[in-house]
Amino acid sequence: MIKQPTPLIDFTNLTYHYVRTNVNYVSYYKDGLWDEGQLQAEDSLRINILSTTFHYGQQAFEGMKAYRTKEGKIQLFRPYENAVRFQKSCQRIMMPPVSVEQFMDAVIRVVEQNSEFVPPYETQATLYIRPYMIGVGPNLVLAPSKEYIFGVVVMPVGLFFKSGLTPADFLVSEFDRAAPHGTGAVKIGGNYAASMYPNYIAKSQGFTDCIYLDPATHTRIDEGGAANFFAIRKDGVFVSPKSSSILPSITKLSLLDIAKNYLHLEVLETEIYIEDLTLFDEAATCGTAAIITPIGSLTHHDTVYHFGTKGQVGHVTKRLYEVLTGIQFGDITPPHNWILSIE
Ligand SMILES: Cc1ncc(COP(=O)(O)O)c(C=O)c1O
Repeated sequence: MIKQPTPLIDFTNLTYHYVRTNVNYVSYYKDGLWDEGQLQAEDSLRINILSTTFHYGQQAFEGMKAYRTKEGKIQLFRPYENAVRFQKSCQRIMMPPVSVEQFMDAVIRVVEQNSEFVPPYETQATLYIRPYMIGVGPNLVLAPSKEYIFGVVVMPVGLFFKSGLTPADFLVSEFDRAAPHGTGAVKIGGNYAASMYPNYIAKSQGFTDCIYLDPATHTRIDEGGAANFFAIRKDGVFVSPKSSSILPSITKLSLLDIAKNYLHLEVLETEIYIEDLTLFDEAATCGTAAIITPIGSLTHHDTVYHFGTKGQVGHVTKRLYEVLTGIQFGDITPPHNWILSIE
């Protein structure tokens, strides 16, 4: 395997655009078995033109990050949760899940071999990790493929939403990203293809992104296109939507814990009706990419719901951000099993 020379990267100016790194991981599934997988420098795949990933969207993925601590160490945030969610996504669309061990081994090997691409602590940038699985091999009929590729690719990233901790304006979408008993709760490509047009509409109207309502009744907040939603009620309770059509966000799961055990807030996962948004002082989206992105306003038809003091992140949201990122970058003691050190 030939290592690419490491390019000079300005880690302070990263976006979410492709940066080629040293190696990625690929493993092939054939005749009912996964091979042991290998690292490759090549950043393309050669697959059959009738692969199910192309024609029927048989594809699942994960999104996670490696963080550089103040001491220069590299660490992962709750990677086992990603491994388990990946298995569920694969199973939902009839793909053979990889074991948690193979997932972890692949992620760790790719991060280790690309350690120089993990941005320095001071930049607060990170190494994004993208595990994926695709159905490959010729298959014209609508049926699961017999062959698959599991891979892991990484690249350094900066802010996903440029607004950072400045509250951003969001639009309640007229469209759905997922069906009531569909695939909203798993991380598969089709959900994201469905959200590209609504995202374009929101952006072309000057919004940062859109928020989706529950697809069955269109009365309750579901989530964003790539992030969950939470809000802080005027009485200080941390509330996040309970819905079967949203992705179970690992960041949201962590914030429920942080709000309860670090900030000593009451927490609640329940339906959030759109007209009840007036009960909230602060609102935000959260996710691996979004981290915590405060929502300044949410526009639903002719009604605009405002949160916090215009232009400033609310104090609970700010505190949640500080503890979450403090744990991820190694400045705050994490709960048991949340952090995996790589070096
Ligand atoms: C649709 C959707 N919801 C929520 C999230 C946040 O999930 P997590 O916190 O696990 O990154 C993501 C990002 O992965 C997402 O794509």
